[in-house]
Amino acid sequence: MTGRIGPLGGTDGSRAWFDRAQASLAGGISSSSRLTSTGPHPYPLYIASGSGTRIRDIDGNEYLDYLISYGSAILGHAAPELTEALTAVLGTGTMFGTCNTAEVELAELICEMVPCAELVRFANSGSEAVQGAVRAARGYTGLSKILKFEGHYHGWSDTLAISNRPRVSEAGPYATPNPVPHSPGIPAGIIDDVVVCPWNDPAALRTCLDAHQGEFAAVICEPIVANNACTMPAPGYLDLLREECTARGIVLIFDEVCTGFRTGPGGAQALFDVVPDLAVFSKALGGGLPIAAFAGQRHVMEPLARGDVKHGGTYNASPLCATSALVTLRHLNQPGITKHIEDSGQRLMETIRRAAHDRRVPCAVQGVGAMFQTVFTPDGTPTREYRELLRADQARYHAFRHELLTRGVHANAFALACWFIPSAVTDDDLDATCEAVEEAFKAL
Ligand SMILES: Cc1ncc(COP(=O)(O)O)c(C=O)c1O
Repeated sequence: MTGRIGPLGGTDGSRAWFDRAQASLAGGISSSSRLTSTGPHPYPLYIASGSGTRIRDIDGNEYLDYLISYGSAILGHAAPELTEALTAVLGTGTMFGTCNTAEVELAELICEMVPCAELVRFANSGSEAVQGAVRAARGYTGLSKILKFEGHYHGWSDTLAISNRPRVSEAGPYATPNPVPHSPGIPAGIIDDVVVCPWNDPAALRTCLDAHQGEFAAVICEPIVANNACTMPAPGYLDLLREECTARGIVLIFDEVCTGFRTGPGGAQALFDVVPDLAVFSKALGGGLPIAAFAGQRHVMEPLARGDVKHGGTYNASPLCATSALVTLRHLNQPGITKHIEDSGQRLMETIRRAAHDRRVPCAVQGVGAMFQTVFTPDGTPTREYRELLRADQARYHAFRHELLTRGVHANAFALACWFIPSAVTDDDLDATCEAVEEAFKAL
């Protein structure tokens, strides 16, 4: 794709398809986040094609894409090496429901790249793999309670769709939050097994662990909270989680669905040098195809390996998806790729900071180069936990994102989400994005 990006032409085609979709698709969408990712925009964009860093909607508008399918298309859209490998699989059969060699090579590569990974199991989505990890932790410990952090997202399934984004009015006391179901339809018994704690607060964590001593199967967290606008772990906080879980015999799970293979070949656990017992992967793992994994230390995975703890799935690690993941991880494991992604993101982060500073707009640009978010906090300091994030000016973020969209830069409009950088990003893309950022701040 070489067309000029922006300014945004009409999007009547997208509007018409969304109107049409209402009659047959529940709510016109296939995932609730398809609406949140468009923010206040009244209808989603229908994307016709993508190539490298660019996508084109059905009305012919072209955008530089920093949603990149929620970080999944990490090599860029229709990456030639991926297309070639997948085309070969299409010609030989995509799925047999039996074992295949690609899944073995993929598991071996994950064990080589990821510090905690001694044994791996594959699934199809992050939600499923989170369920697998929780099942493994419960099976291993014989306990059922899970500690999760307020604002962290671990998928849509009942198990942990609790206190993802509670309203302040229902969230309860700061230090001992109420477990708030994300949706009607989650049974009370499931909610009773989840204890919610504020993030980045050592005292609140210890109090919570003490109050439920001997009850927790697992503590689960997003090590960089992608779903809280890339809130970073406070220095030493992940180490504290590790120490407490080890001392108390609790399985520590890192949900690396967003950070895995993106923040470097070993994910956030390598970046922060803290090794969990189990970790969950998806998104960047598949390079744009649906595959996920949970992986962990041998002793925790052993009951699963023996067959005592059950986990299944017709589509798990199909040749098509396993091949996609194998090609993607081999690419990401090459020297220089992580640095390119990281440096590119850092350049954008710096540009946003400078543009905001020049216009005297308080904001924090938080996260790492590979995934970050612009948060309009009242005094420009980065957020430490979910309730602070709620005090940020989300309307201003929506306006910022809209100004960028009209200049041909496409990012998740959900203020609590983040931007993802693909490895295909070029200096020209970054030049164009930086210019759009400066113009957007002028227009704000
Ligand atoms: C950190 C995290 N965990 C789990 C999930 C669930 O993954 P999926 O949407 O593939 O079910 C997501 C999805 O965005 C996520 O960001």
